Amino acid sequence: MEKILVVDDDADIRRAFRRNLESDVLKVVEAGSGEEAIRQVAVERPDLIMMDIRMGATNGLDTLHKLRSLDPKLMIIMMTAYGTTQTAIEAMKHGAYDYVLKPLDVPKLKALIEQALQSARAMRQVVSYQPLLSKEDYAEGIIGKSEPMQQVFKLIGQVSQSDATVLVTGESGTGKELVARAIYHHSKRADQPFLAINCAAIPENLLESELFGHERGAFTSAVERRIGKFEQCDGGTIFLDEIGDMPLATQAKVLRVLQNGEFQRVGGNQTLKVDVRVIAATNRDPEKHVAQKKFREDLYYRLNVVRIHLPPLRERRDDIAVLVDYFIRKTKIKRVSPKVLVFLQKHDWPGNVRELENAVERATVVARGETLMPDDLPADVREPKTLAAAPEAVEGSLDAAVAALFSLARKDAKLKLIPAMERELIARALTETGGNQVQASKLLGITRATLRKRIAKFGIEWQIVAG
Ligand SMILES: Nc1ncnc2c1ncn2[C@@H]1O[C@H](COP(=O)(O)OP(=O)(O)OP(=O)(O)O)[C@@H](O)[C@H]1O
Ligand SMILES: [Mg+2]
Repeated sequence: MEKILVVDDDADIRRAFRRNLESDVLKVVEAGSGEEAIRQVAVERPDLIMMDIRMGATNGLDTLHKLRSLDPKLMIIMMTAYGTTQTAIEAMKHGAYDYVLKPLDVPKLKALIEQALQSARAMRQVVSYQPLLSKEDYAEGIIGKSEPMQQVFKLIGQVSQSDATVLVTGESGTGKELVARAIYHHSKRADQPFLAINCAAIPENLLESELFGHERGAFTSAVERRIGKFEQCDGGTIFLDEIGDMPLATQAKVLRVLQNGEFQRVGGNQTLKVDVRVIAATNRDPEKHVAQKKFREDLYYRLNVVRIHLPPLRERRDDIAVLVDYFIRKTKIKRVSPKVLVFLQKHDWPGNVRELENAVERATVVARGETLMPDDLPADVREPKTLAAAPEAVEGSLDAAVAALFSLARKDAKLKLIPAMERELIARALTETGGNQVQASKLLGITRATLRKRIAKFGIEWQIVAG
């Protein structure tokens, strides 16, 4: 159950929050003044605080300042009826997560609260993982006993002591964000804010203003000055996720902040200075991206000071068993049938650890007893992968299909790609055309004579598909 503390001297407002927000998973607690808020924070440990700026005798901004100096990680959203831009800026400078104007727009407010709670959850994630076995094994909730993961752990330890920029690479679901949070958690900036920005999720035209803020009137919808993430995160750590998707113009601005800590708000001409540590991540191949001129070479060199690469799960199958152990630790499951592990170790995990986590989670839900059985696994994990089945697991390009074939070949030393492919293609063409050799040879792009020779060579017998 999560908790929101509403701080307002107006009892009607507090009641309105309770009525609109309270649910099975969300509890609303109240405070009528700044002093009471400080007491309530100690007792209730809220996940989010909504606080009025003007409350009779006490000033919300002072309380904000006090609360943040007690615990810089507190998530606080300020509310104000008299929206002077100045108070809003003061609020953000003092570390408010955001501010909203009264009268409150309930749907918008709910969305903002959900977003704030999500950040709070993410922030807690690394810290609250309880070590299961020994601390070394389960430190930080990043699990792995394979050699490459041991290297990753060492690097995390090394870079966390410095302010060096780190570039984390790896396929989707390999744990890049987890690594970024672990670096932050161990760094000397651990008690300062950590802000994550997903560059791919924010529309290109808004990203720059999100990062650097904007002045009033910078563009049509800029009705007020807005403080950007870099300014808000002064002293802290910024995680630029999916940096490969950042537009080139924004890349230039990021480079400037990295080089000398300077930037300007969009539409502004005042140069501001910040001290922010940057951790960036991408699931693309940065070198290729640079070669294609989609990523600035100078920014690449500046980011790549330290590189942490997370190999795909299929290249560190040693980690699968420990990960499963970790993922079942808080479930009813006590044992895992050895056959389950065989399936899990054979599967290719294109979605990497995230896919494994989801598969294990689904399995624990359907499992009837305390032992995880093969039947509990999702069908695509249990299904032995044949060459014919592979393209179904592949979306779109020929390139992706070929990549899937190669990964099959790597798993199975006996698989000889070209003859195996040729045989499969011919058998499939015959199946799909109901054995019509003229159609099949057209589909394959070979002559009918060649098709006949191949059928004989491979001794193919095909099924006629009914209907
Ligand atoms: N080594 C690991 N130990 C435990 N959990 C892991 C590990 N690696 C990844 N996970 C879990 O897998 C999921 C995906 O991890 P994360 O979000 O860090 O991946 P990502 O590389 O950022 O993926 P994407 O590129 O899709 O954003 C998360 O739920 C994370 O907790
Ligand atoms: Mg990620």
